[in-house]
Amino acid sequence: MKSLLLTTVAAITMTAAAASAQTVGFSQIGSESGWRAAETTLTKQQAEERGIDLKFSDAQQKQENQIAAIRAFVAQGVDAILLAPVVATGWDSALEEAKDADIPVVLLDRQVDSSDDLYLTAVGSNLVHEGEVAGGWLVEEVGDKDCRVVELQGTTGSSPAIDRATGFRNAIEGHDNIEIVRSQTGDFTRSQGKEVMESFLQAENGGADICALYAHNDDMAVGAIQAIKEAGLKPGSDILIVAIDAVPDYFQAMAAGEANATVELTPNMAGPAFDALEAYWADGTMPPKFIQTESKLYTQADDPAGEAERRKSLGY
Ligand code: AHR
Repeated sequence: MKSLLLTTVAAITMTAAAASAQTVGFSQIGSESGWRAAETTLTKQQAEERGIDLKFSDAQQKQENQIAAIRAFVAQGVDAILLAPVVATGWDSALEEAKDADIPVVLLDRQVDSSDDLYLTAVGSNLVHEGEVAGGWLVEEVGDKDCRVVELQGTTGSSPAIDRATGFRNAIEGHDNIEIVRSQTGDFTRSQGKEVMESFLQAENGGADICALYAHNDDMAVGAIQAIKEAGLKPGSDILIVAIDAVPDYFQAMAAGEANATVELTPNMAGPAFDALEAYWADGTMPPKFIQTESKLYTQADDPAGEAERRKSLGY
């Protein structure tokens, strides 16, 4: 009887909340990449279209700023929190505080190591699979030729850096002709991608000993392309390039023959996140713990110039 009463009260509260404009706090990592900027733009667009009042907080790449933002959203009594977590560990206390305040948290694009009862759902891609798709492309492309690979990793401790590294290694396992000879973080930024690639080129006989670059995101690859050109080599042919994201600047590099392949990560994480929240607010519908987005491979054969334009028109 008591539980029936509680369920009814919860349903009435949720229905009442669903009827008025909802307030959602969004703790975004920062603006390290073109992909991240696109995610921010699309989240704001989605909120506006749905009449959601979005409180945006830019953490400037710092976890402590994200934790402070979550606490501020809890204090304000928002109806939900979107969190794109910069790194995977260290979220338990902040997530527990949101849970204690009955505020559902939805993770966007990155995972946390916390127990999954501390958040409502996570929207994102299978990050290991992304690395496997990228590695699978390289395996096909080089066949049985020897290939020395350099790797630009994402932000240290972030779930995409960990999982994309694992996935790529899964794909090349058993292909002894392919070897990762250097691996370093470029923190998902274009400037560090360029800087680290310069050091790889220097260490690898001016780049002559490098067959391929695997970058955990397109922005680092775009920075690396610049470094390769400055070293007098042709990116896309002297050094094969495969990355992840599918942003317009990288498609333009593919259209120019300076990059070879990318795995798409949609920046529209907010669409599925708000769909899940709206159903939850309406009648308490529980979403699955993981809402998976697609990981499609694009190569130079897939009209890269057209894809760049298409994405720009979507607000990337
Ligand atoms: O978490 C997603 C990754 O974060 C994107 O691949 C990258 O561009 C961004 O910085």
